[in-house]
Amino acid sequence: MTTVSEIFETMAYGPAPENDKPALEWIARHDGAFGLFIGGRWTNGKSDAGFDVINPATTARLARVSQAGQADVDAAVAAARKAFPAWSALSGHARARHLYALARAVQRHSRLLAVLESLDNGKSIRETRDLDIPLVARHLTHHAGWAQLADSEFAGYGPVGVVGQIVPWNFPLLMVAWKIAPALAAGNTVVLKPAEFTPLTALCLAEIAHEGGGLPPGVLNVVTGDGRTGELIVTHADIDKIAFTGSTEVGRLIRKATAGSGKKLSLELGGKSPFIVFDDADLDSVVEGVVDAIWFNQGQVCCAGSRLLVHEGIAERLVTKLRARMEKLRVGPPLDKAIDMGAIVAPVQLERIRSLVNTGVDEGATMWQPSWACPTDGYFYPPTLFTNVSPAATVAQVEIFGPVLVSMTFRTPAEAVELANNTPYGLAASVWTENINLALDVAPKIKAGVVWINCTNLFDAASGFGGYRESGFGREGGREGMWEYLKREREAGSEMRDAKKKPAKPARAARIPHPASPIPPIDRTYKLFIGGAQVRPDQGYSRKILSPSGTLLAEVAEGNRKDIRNAVEAAHAAEGWAKTSGHNRGQVLYYLAENLAQRADEFAERIADLTGRAGSDGRREVDASIARLFSYAAWADKYDGAVHQTPIRGVTLAMNEPVGVIGIACPEDEPLLGFVSLVGPAVAVGNTVIAIPSEAHPLAATELYTVLDASDVPAGVINVVTGAKDALANVLAEHDDVDAVWYFGNQAAGAEVERASAGNMKRTWVEWHPRDWNDSEQGEGREFLREATQVKNIWIPYGE
Ligand code: NAI
Repeated sequence: MTTVSEIFETMAYGPAPENDKPALEWIARHDGAFGLFIGGRWTNGKSDAGFDVINPATTARLARVSQAGQADVDAAVAAARKAFPAWSALSGHARARHLYALARAVQRHSRLLAVLESLDNGKSIRETRDLDIPLVARHLTHHAGWAQLADSEFAGYGPVGVVGQIVPWNFPLLMVAWKIAPALAAGNTVVLKPAEFTPLTALCLAEIAHEGGGLPPGVLNVVTGDGRTGELIVTHADIDKIAFTGSTEVGRLIRKATAGSGKKLSLELGGKSPFIVFDDADLDSVVEGVVDAIWFNQGQVCCAGSRLLVHEGIAERLVTKLRARMEKLRVGPPLDKAIDMGAIVAPVQLERIRSLVNTGVDEGATMWQPSWACPTDGYFYPPTLFTNVSPAATVAQVEIFGPVLVSMTFRTPAEAVELANNTPYGLAASVWTENINLALDVAPKIKAGVVWINCTNLFDAASGFGGYRESGFGREGGREGMWEYLKREREAGSEMRDAKKKPAKPARAARIPHPASPIPPIDRTYKLFIGGAQVRPDQGYSRKILSPSGTLLAEVAEGNRKDIRNAVEAAHAAEGWAKTSGHNRGQVLYYLAENLAQRADEFAERIADLTGRAGSDGRREVDASIARLFSYAAWADKYDGAVHQTPIRGVTLAMNEPVGVIGIACPEDEPLLGFVSLVGPAVAVGNTVIAIPSEAHPLAATELYTVLDASDVPAGVINVVTGAKDALANVLAEHDDVDAVWYFGNQAAGAEVERASAGNMKRTWVEWHPRDWNDSEQGEGREFLREATQVKNIWIPYGE
């Protein structure tokens, strides 16, 4: 009889192919041939030359694309130049909206882009679907945030101008996102050239950005072609900056070609990154780490951990484990969801790998490959491990850019560091040890732009990426990545400054009266909002809300001590919010802004009714509230801590942590903007809140309940209790489970709040002088984020 374990052992993977039809249909809609994307539309390439794009997993022709010549590059640069004044003069908020729209467009078309990328590059659908495309959207969203904050965080700096961007084939769309997101956020316009092997997703993105994404024409232009087109971009007189990712060899040519031209330059080049394993490392984790380091994307990764440096004492054990794991790796059709490694991008790259591996064998190293054979109908290469490698061997020095790992041994940490630094490169490194002293001692000694401890190949838009030494200069991602696309604005007479001057406030328009209506409006009952649900107040009382002229607008719930207690409980139950990533919190705030924008007219009218101000002023308040939500969505993943210079051998990490549960009594004026300006920063950094809206005009906040519901704000993160503001604020101040109270109102009640807070010594922020919430210098920024956080210093001395 067959046992379950026998069945389990003999079970083979069945094929699990992803459907390629929608991607092939997209190509077919273009008749299988692509022009260039210039000035917001498809153009026929001005030169007749073109070349085929091949699916490396099948060698089938996918499409034909144009080889852009001088006239084409001129046209693309002219389109970018023409678009520059308007694009750079947009407010940061407007550009943030565009980048956010682009991120959303990528999410809407994520599967099309993932499949197209797999077809074009040969990488597995698992990677394009779960890594490349989500990270593309992440980069665009993160940089929507930098656009939003550009005016305050990069004050005095403006865009460089027209930038030429040249990207490689290993992460075709991800590299496009790394390039265009900061460029566009800073206000530059772009001429982008994808790699000749993999141009399709960049073209698809350009189309999506303009069709559904609404990007203005000329802001993003895509020209295809090989290195000759790249050279035309690099040497173009009307381009202000070049950003390049690719081989060190071409990087060197570009450095020479741009020298003395005044062009700004950033280069992200090759690597030969060390993967250092000390003898106390968790070897099973190390094996999985190695899989990610060198067999991710078939090893065609600039920061691939391609040099395994192992402590002598464990080398044999690790190599045995690695070989067992390699035997189980699956190489095959990239669109199969159960495949680990897809195809190598092109025959020339396959040949390069083969020839370097042959050199390795010729030079005396021991080469090992799994017993199974790769498919033969495409450009596949098996995972390969070299042992007995001398540090000076070709395979230990030259970037192979394929699934080939070379391993060497060391005896002491000092020797490990020496070996690690023994190449001209300095892109990345991984350090594996269970000893944090050792890890932190070694990390600063390695010459590399990124050091991963007990992990590898982690990337995020919030963390800059780039190299030391011959791996290039400049960073992509994070605040440092933005500097690459900014320059100091000229003091006087600068076009930029004039363009950026705030437009005069529009005159207040008279409010259009409602047409008289014979049927009464449907009654709306405004309850409290606690734990994600609209709940009746404990006491069952309501209060009347009147317009300035005395008409009854609605009745809202009269909250009491018990309601506050329930809200505090709900806020505590939602503390998991603090542990969600800044990115996720930002996404929720963007979504909130998006849903508020959907109902902007309705809110504007509501505010006008409540305050007696003109409808246009209500609209102004709603628009300002949307922009403010964008600001805090932006900040959510950017309010970084610091590393302090304390006199120890080690690091002192200053981490910004949320305060906890914050009670917020909102200002009376600007009932929506005041609410958003305080609740926004509090929740952006991970606090949960109990908000008491403006007492006179609470309806702006109560209307928000349904928007909060629709925007995936988790239950209990934002709770709203309406009623007598000062009394409720006092209850919050007395409550032992509330960590801070913010009170914006009158002096006497503010004093009460401060007195009552002494119970648990909670933090208070009390203001009775009015602020101009509409002015972004008074109404938002770091001051608010400081109040919403507390700094924890973590001292980590290290050294062996
Ligand atoms: P490459 O550096 O030639 O190509 C990268 C990009 O630069 C492509 O878009 C290409 O068209 C463009 N380009 C080529 N020559 C140019 C020139 N003179 N001026 C301006 N642009 C130019 O890389 P290639 O030939 O695709 O790959 C060769 C080797 O480079 C690989 O085996 C690998 O070792 C390394 N490489 C490293 C990458 C990285 O991310 N660090 C990415 C791609 C390749």
